[in-house]
Amino acid sequence: MTIKTGVHNGVATIEIARPEKKNALTVAMYQAMSDALQAAAADGAVRAVLITGQPGVFTSGNDIEDFMSRPPGQGSDSSESPVFKFMRALIECDKPVVAAVTGAAIGIGTTMLLHCDFVYVSDEARLAMPFVGLGLVPEFSSSLLVPQLMGQRRAAEKLLLGDPFTGEQAVECGLANAVLPAGEVVNHARRVAERFNALPPGAVRESKQLMTAPQRELILKTIRTEGELFARRLRSPEAMEAFQAFFQKRKPDFSKF
Ligand code: COA
Repeated sequence: MTIKTGVHNGVATIEIARPEKKNALTVAMYQAMSDALQAAAADGAVRAVLITGQPGVFTSGNDIEDFMSRPPGQGSDSSESPVFKFMRALIECDKPVVAAVTGAAIGIGTTMLLHCDFVYVSDEARLAMPFVGLGLVPEFSSSLLVPQLMGQRRAAEKLLLGDPFTGEQAVECGLANAVLPAGEVVNHARRVAERFNALPPGAVRESKQLMTAPQRELILKTIRTEGELFARRLRSPEAMEAFQAFFQKRKPDFSKF
């Protein structure tokens, strides 16, 4: 099982569980996460959602093998692909979403945090958005939201250079709420999610809607624009070189481009 789900004490948990591949996300996993988010939104017993990973790894991002063999965004209706369904389900979830970043959070592992309401990061975590180094462009509206959140200068380090950053730095730049010892991050995040059992759900839902509504259309439009470029870039010689280099465990060589 690669996505474990369950509801306990008012909290729907979505646990990414593919440790042998560092929790890399496949098409089937995006579909499972999208289904779980929609089920959580529809379930009256659920007051909040918790997204978590495995010790040492939150997710290493999109499965690079899938990128090569089943690139998202292709076909006549790319908005129906599981990755886009997952993005929309997270954006449209009207219940609070809490992320427990248990370790490495790469690519969409970091960009999905932009759409969570609370983010707690393990002191062992490393975050990165290495899209450019993979011959790609940012996704999940990170090209809009990262500069908004931390300013153009720091966004350029993270999005153009792909510099990795720590949990402390994630807190400093506004991406995360707090850093916790690795052994405590999931329990802490769960306790925050459980606090919604004591709050009035209608007021929570309407407040979250108020907080997210002003930018929602712009975010969805940005995701579509990024998605078109991303799909094109996935088939580029630059991306092919980067993916092959990853699996051959060598540095990519972009000198010929
Ligand atoms: N897609 C597919 N397979 C992946 C993967 C990914 N995103 N991330 C890791 N794996 C696989 C590796 O190929 C390796 O498989 P193998 O055992 O069959 O060789 C296995 O998971 C373990 O990964 P490894 O790189 O050896 O672990 P590590 O502890 O040295 O490094 C990471 C962990 C997360 C830092 C590193 O795996 C990484 O950088 N992954 C790619 C991240 C990325 O670029 N994601 C795409 C963003 S758009």
